[in-house]
Amino acid sequence: MSIRRLPSELINRIAAGEVVERPASALKELVENSLDAGAASIAVRLAAGGLELVEVADDGWGMVPAEMSLALERHATSKLPDDHIEDVASFGFRGEALPSIASVARLTLDSRAADGDGWRIEIDHGQTLREGPHALPPGTRVRVEGLFDKVPARRKFLRSPRAEYAACIDAVRRLAMARPDVGFSVEHDGRRTLSVQPSDAPTRVAALLDRDLDRHGLGVDCVRDGLRLTGVVSLPTFNRGMADHQYLFVNGRPVKDRLLVGSLRAAFRDLLARDRHPIAALFVEVPSGEVDINVHPAKTEVRFRDPAAVRGLIVGGLRAALDEAGHRSVAREQFVSSVAWTDDLTPTSHPRAGGDPAPDSSPFSGTPAFAGVTEDRLRFGANHPHGRAEPATAPVPAYPLGVARGQVAATYIVAEAEDGLVIVDQHAAHERLVLERMRQASAGGEVARQALLLPDVVEMDEPDCDRLEAAAGELALLGLEIERFGPRAMLVRATPAPLGKTDVPGLLHDLAAELAELGTALALRDRLDHVAATMACHGSVRAGRILSVAEMNALLREMEVTPRSGQCNHGRPTWVKLAHGDIEKLFGRR
Ligand SMILES: Nc1ncnc2c1ncn2[C@@H]1O[C@H](COP(=O)(O)OP(=O)(O)OP(=O)(O)O)[C@@H](O)[C@H]1O
Ligand SMILES: [Mg+2]
Repeated sequence: MSIRRLPSELINRIAAGEVVERPASALKELVENSLDAGAASIAVRLAAGGLELVEVADDGWGMVPAEMSLALERHATSKLPDDHIEDVASFGFRGEALPSIASVARLTLDSRAADGDGWRIEIDHGQTLREGPHALPPGTRVRVEGLFDKVPARRKFLRSPRAEYAACIDAVRRLAMARPDVGFSVEHDGRRTLSVQPSDAPTRVAALLDRDLDRHGLGVDCVRDGLRLTGVVSLPTFNRGMADHQYLFVNGRPVKDRLLVGSLRAAFRDLLARDRHPIAALFVEVPSGEVDINVHPAKTEVRFRDPAAVRGLIVGGLRAALDEAGHRSVAREQFVSSVAWTDDLTPTSHPRAGGDPAPDSSPFSGTPAFAGVTEDRLRFGANHPHGRAEPATAPVPAYPLGVARGQVAATYIVAEAEDGLVIVDQHAAHERLVLERMRQASAGGEVARQALLLPDVVEMDEPDCDRLEAAAGELALLGLEIERFGPRAMLVRATPAPLGKTDVPGLLHDLAAELAELGTALALRDRLDHVAATMACHGSVRAGRILSVAEMNALLREMEVTPRSGQCNHGRPTWVKLAHGDIEKLFGRR
């Protein structure tokens, strides 16, 4: 057996497999280089989603010819002044992006330092073809053509130009969010698709994500244990069906980090349904010794020295901001303008804000709210509504949610407030209240238990039993007392008192699923919170229960004093108000 060193061309190609997966990753590396070179403006040109061409031109400080040759060599970097990898403030530091890209494509590097002349080096799959003087303004331009054309094993994994383009624009967006002080433009197949001027961070985020974030977003700025979190998140009711609009940054570097994504999810856990996602641009700042950015060749993953602190910062910071937003229900605004809900009583029509596009075509979704209403309207059509009325005795006391006047379809409470008509989704509202009660109780120690007269035996899969058994201690804090009962069953002795009468097997199955999804990575506090949300769902007044007027009023009063009562645990509104002015408009009185 003979041991040989790998030829450098092969080494570069192996590195390319890690650094450059697709056009978007090459683009990311080039734009990062431009930012590191102090560019004030960066122009990107793409053809066929970057498969044919990725070009990045900047007005940074450029390179002299000797530096250009060096830049194309492996592990040559100008970015580690004292060989202190912990303190790098630049995007790059490995010195492998350019040679890696050059090994799997045709690459043209043009550069001119401020006080020098322009120079061009052309490389074809690692081989220098030619070099010589080339006129250009100060700065650098890199053209990458036919990426992976000669590497069929890689080419095979590339997707359609459309999908590759989507990844490219996403990469530019991330970097443009990280550096609002720099101007960016993107041209794809000859069409200008993105253009942003230097601005402040909130303006840049709104410009890149959605202008409506101004109205439907929350600013976040908090400091905890020497860590800082800033940025914007959407209100729970302004959510999306995909988690694709979540941009996370650590010390100004865009990252795709599971811990951060998980923390964001956790913060919204009981405010959104599982398949809905918030929009977010969050910037975490940590002292450089607290984070290792060198764990991934593409530098998109980081490792925190104290992950729990980072998680606490995000979950705590976002929750505080969301609490402050209180029971402000976005859907309320949508509904106030959506007087359309009464102009057509055919059961299948979609109630929708006047002039708004159909919910499905909207990039954001108030859709869950609308979908819920549609369903219920179908029910209105199918059954005769149960309606009961209270005479309107003046004057109305000054309760924000008014006094109950009746119940409709055994699902909605109709109340009269001083300034309008309030409609409450009783199930959604009650579920929220139960959760908040559970939370309060668990914050002050243990949640009260209600012993079952006869312990309940629930049969389940062995792994589910294992999970529940392992979590029995935590669940006891929430008032649920369970024990293992043989390999495939659990014994339930007591349930949380705030839940009232519950479907015990249903509760256990949901909890097991919840625990499986959460894994063991979460801090106890977070887990309890999630589990409490799952439990709350089981303790709620279901739609379809007839309530007495006293019960309805009690629910309204409790909502008024409960934090976050404006939306249910799935991000739908719990109540909407039609102001007197809106009612007048409906009847053409205004
Ligand atoms: N647009 C540019 N303007 C000026 N200098 C550049 C530019 N692009 C690359 N360079 C120089 O070329 C060197 C090599 O770039 P390359 O991207 O290969 O490595 P790096 O940025 O140092 O590290 P990494 O591999 O982590 O990106 C850089 O250190 C920098 O000195
Ligand atoms: Mg680089």
